[in-house]
Amino acid sequence: MKFLVSALGLVFLGTSLGSCGSDKTQATPTAGLPSPVVPTKPVKTANNAEYRTPPVKGPVPRNPDMAFTADFSSTGGISFSQVKVPGKYIAMTFDDGPQPQNTPRLLDMLRARNIKATFYVVGRNVDLYPQIVRRAVAEGHEIGSHSYTHRLFSKLSDSEIREDLTKTRDAIGRAAGIQPRTLRPPYGGLLQRQREWIHAEFGYPIILWSVDPLDWKRPGSAAVCSRILAATRPGSIVLAHDLHGATVDAMPATLDGLLQRGFQFVTVSQLLAMKGEVATAQAAVQPPMP
Ligand code: NI
Repeated sequence: MKFLVSALGLVFLGTSLGSCGSDKTQATPTAGLPSPVVPTKPVKTANNAEYRTPPVKGPVPRNPDMAFTADFSSTGGISFSQVKVPGKYIAMTFDDGPQPQNTPRLLDMLRARNIKATFYVVGRNVDLYPQIVRRAVAEGHEIGSHSYTHRLFSKLSDSEIREDLTKTRDAIGRAAGIQPRTLRPPYGGLLQRQREWIHAEFGYPIILWSVDPLDWKRPGSAAVCSRILAATRPGSIVLAHDLHGATVDAMPATLDGLLQRGFQFVTVSQLLAMKGEVATAQAAVQPPMP
């Protein structure tokens, strides 16, 4: 036992210093390979027999969270960029996928750490790669709507938005048998009036973010990692994009750094439900009305 403990200690010494590394050492493993062929129409995926989920590494799951409720029906409010929570809980969100190379790679990284994330998927990509969405759901991740073709909603008519959100919801349903429960509008652009009718009609809370590494500007993996580690607080909703290879390259160091800082990962719905719990707990200690 003593030996095991010291051996583990050595392992952690070598791997858990929380460095974001440099981009020189984090080259994309697929660099130099020919570009993938991107299909122009939905691919048939009736059989997915070749896929096997990778095993969870490490002695125990480090981030168990499935016991937390995802029922946020008692949570007030329509828009959220962060949530007041009773502990060091955060939600990692990944937008604009699924992407055929990067999203499966990210799913492997999350699974190895038993971390659950939320994917704000683009409906058009869901129709192209439904098997990736199916895998994400099977591994405990949450799927949210990020529109069908990533247009700026604040410039669309209500009927165009209604049609887009319905199409996205149907694509996710066809792919994975579930419905999205929250919406992240493309570019975060949504008028207050639109937020209200979308919430009333579709039931989606509007999910923005409080941590933004600006990874879409391609600052490099080390910058993505250090920006996220520097800005994340309890209750943060962290924005990243699994569309970009460098963002996914940044994730092992980012996720390990967040785990070292004591953060626990939950899905967006779980984070919202915690706000409900805080409100309920506070209400419970109020003296009864005379
Ligand atoms: Ni987006």
